[in-house]
Amino acid sequence: MEDNLNIRQILEWYVTAGVDETFGEVPFGLEAPKPKVVEPPKPMLTTRAEDSTKPRAATTDLAQATISACKNARDICSEVSSLDELKRLVESFDGCALKLTANKTVFGGGNPNSKVMLIGEAPGADEDRIGLPFVGRSGHLLDKMLQAVGMDRNSCYITNVLPWRPPGNRTPTDGEIAVCLPFLKRQIELIEPDVIVVLGGSAANALLDNEEPISRLRGKWLEYKTPKGKIIPVLASFHPAYLLRNTAQKAKAWVDLLRMKQKLMQ
Ligand code: URA
Repeated sequence: MEDNLNIRQILEWYVTAGVDETFGEVPFGLEAPKPKVVEPPKPMLTTRAEDSTKPRAATTDLAQATISACKNARDICSEVSSLDELKRLVESFDGCALKLTANKTVFGGGNPNSKVMLIGEAPGADEDRIGLPFVGRSGHLLDKMLQAVGMDRNSCYITNVLPWRPPGNRTPTDGEIAVCLPFLKRQIELIEPDVIVVLGGSAANALLDNEEPISRLRGKWLEYKTPKGKIIPVLASFHPAYLLRNTAQKAKAWVDLLRMKQKLMQ
């Protein structure tokens, strides 16, 4: 009974970490929460013979794999000097298990020479099928939003925090975000935008490393500091998928894009 409880806790922890498929007896998935939150679950009940302070081997292996994948991503990113090189590197990267279930690697699109960079969360089903960011329903709305302020895909660069679709569009885990973040950060360094617009809370939290809800971040000028110390103004706005469900908020998103344009002219 006590053992059953512990096994259930560990399984629940795996599910929380994003593991949704078993491929074999030995864990090899690379997604897990950020190192700071990776802790083996503390058993509620332990037998006397069991040392409850000792992490289970499988749990620590998973956390360790995530830590090395993050380091690997950071290291290899620092070696590339062009967007094409970075794209090839992301396509050949095997440190994120999301790639196993995705059809395509979805890198950034639009104009790499633009001064505006838009960042979403992760590809959806259409993006995964086509291999380009924001080409589904959210993308169509994004096109209309850009049009409303006199812009289009040629006047901005569009990318996502994650280059692979999480199965069933589930929320990405902290571990998946941590592993893929170096790719986004390197894109920012290579594009050198004057303004970044983060679309939705997930992208905002990932880039700005905070946990504020989008309702608190939206419409404010925030800052992102590149690894080399350059400060880039960041505007958080609503994700188009949210606007499709909450059409009354579209006016606020329109105001956000106007503010972004105004900033570019300063
Ligand atoms: N939602 C996103 O965040 N990004 C896409 O590319 C598509 C939908």
